[in-house]
Amino acid sequence: MLMMSNHSQKRIFTDSLVIGSGLAGLTAALEAAKHGKVLVVTKAKAEDCNTRYAQGGIACVMSGDEAAFEAHVQDTLVAGAGLCKPDVVRAIVKAGPERVRNLQELGCHFTLQKEVTPDVPPAQGNEFHLGREGGHSARRILHAGDITGVEVSDVLIARCRENPNVTLLENHLAVDLISTRHIDWQGDNVCLGAYVMDTATREIHTVVAKKTFLATGGAGKVYLCTCNPDVACGDGVAMAYRAGAEISNMEFYQFHPTILFHPHAKSFLISEAVRGEGAILKIRKGNEYVTFMENYHKLGSLAPRDIVARAIDNELKRTGEECAWLDIRHKSEEFLRARFPNIFARCLKFGINMATDLIPVVPAAHYCCGGVRTDVNGVTSVKNLYAIGECGCTGLHGANRLASNSLLEAVVVANFAVKHASAQEGEPHCGITPEMIPDWESGNAVDSDEQIVITHNWDEIRRLMWDYVGIVRSNKRLERAKNRIRMIRKEIEKYYWNFLLTPDLIELRNLASVAEMIIDAASARRESRGLHYNLNYLPGADPESQGKDSILRMPQKFELRFQ
Ligand code: SIN
Repeated sequence: MLMMSNHSQKRIFTDSLVIGSGLAGLTAALEAAKHGKVLVVTKAKAEDCNTRYAQGGIACVMSGDEAAFEAHVQDTLVAGAGLCKPDVVRAIVKAGPERVRNLQELGCHFTLQKEVTPDVPPAQGNEFHLGREGGHSARRILHAGDITGVEVSDVLIARCRENPNVTLLENHLAVDLISTRHIDWQGDNVCLGAYVMDTATREIHTVVAKKTFLATGGAGKVYLCTCNPDVACGDGVAMAYRAGAEISNMEFYQFHPTILFHPHAKSFLISEAVRGEGAILKIRKGNEYVTFMENYHKLGSLAPRDIVARAIDNELKRTGEECAWLDIRHKSEEFLRARFPNIFARCLKFGINMATDLIPVVPAAHYCCGGVRTDVNGVTSVKNLYAIGECGCTGLHGANRLASNSLLEAVVVANFAVKHASAQEGEPHCGITPEMIPDWESGNAVDSDEQIVITHNWDEIRRLMWDYVGIVRSNKRLERAKNRIRMIRKEIEKYYWNFLLTPDLIELRNLASVAEMIIDAASARRESRGLHYNLNYLPGADPESQGKDSILRMPQKFELRFQ
């Protein structure tokens, strides 16, 4: 990596730029490091990513059994409600085992059957303990206890830190992608890297890269209640949109049905794997706790996630209760401690013993099924730009992601993307010379004296999204949301151009942009499908929009602050 200093701003040249440090980003970094220099930028610490919060695991058929592969494909297609791309689903499911073996070679340990249930012999050809979650017709989820995300994140960060071809730049926030949309250029739209802010000094550096891999994760912070970490602001989708990339299926935001309901739990997830081990959802009726999921789906508490989240939402509205309850008291404390060490300990901290008490739960925003539109290789509509992991939309998840398919997609598509990128021949920047790329210019912007604009709009967006664009929507609610977000967006844009950038302002602008995309895509879909449930349309109401992805594209050339 070559750096050229220009006052306090730097110009950095690299072969590959990876934005984000979750499973997708770090997998891409390690693969790309086999071909050249890699710069990974991440806006907080490397550990601050959505991957780390994955409890359930990686859905993957390790037995080599064709019928088992096909069952995984079929479960994915059923959950996806007609919008998955079957060839993409098959390719990702098939490539899974090799990627899992690679993770093992890198040092990841997945829980073995003998570590949880030593008395039960493992299934033929499979030494792993396999979990099950909503929508899965069989046990097929590899896991590392109930902290799979921590395991893969720790291992990959360690491998990246020791790799001489990888530079991991923490506390560096990507402000915008550099694309030919931003310079005087008549040819294809090409990504040339990104402007990146050092969050400690607020200097904005120009990173010029032959290939850019967006791996910025999800956007859960767009909703008031979410189990995502604070970094999940949809930065990648917002930047790609501004760079002219196509964005798909943003209306399909997945709500996880069971987040621990406790004032101090900070949206802690109770993994669906707990229901996979037999936990039953209940609602309070007077002094009793009664089951209800059998009224909504034949799989009861293990129905696909969209159905469970809506059912809980409906029960809470119907009964006026604050939360639903999970009952796994039929399992022994010994089993629960071995299978769910982290969840057990966390519940206990709040005075809940899973073996003897019911667990209070509510739904919260969890996973963005839409994102930057790509093929199975993470290829976007902007040349040299790849989107991988949660910020991408390959067609694997369709209208509703099957549980634990996300880590699978992250690790497989990151690998495919680097293979694709390294097979490209020809001039790396498509004829654009570095001199044609302007540095970031702050113009007449000054420090803001009204930070309240940021905090107010931040809160307002998250509240309006929760109230009007949540689990159950209607045309009237979407219309209200649209009017409000337009006003807020205008205010933020004005503020953005007048004042010097701060990390909070950059994130707020991205969050507002993603909120608007979700509202626009939801308003355009005139049907209920998968995660998008609109009271004005019964499922299958408008044959016109059935089976089609929604696509958003920024209409006009985007202006940046340039010299
Ligand atoms: C969970 O453990 O319930 C989350 C798994 C997932 O969202 O894939």
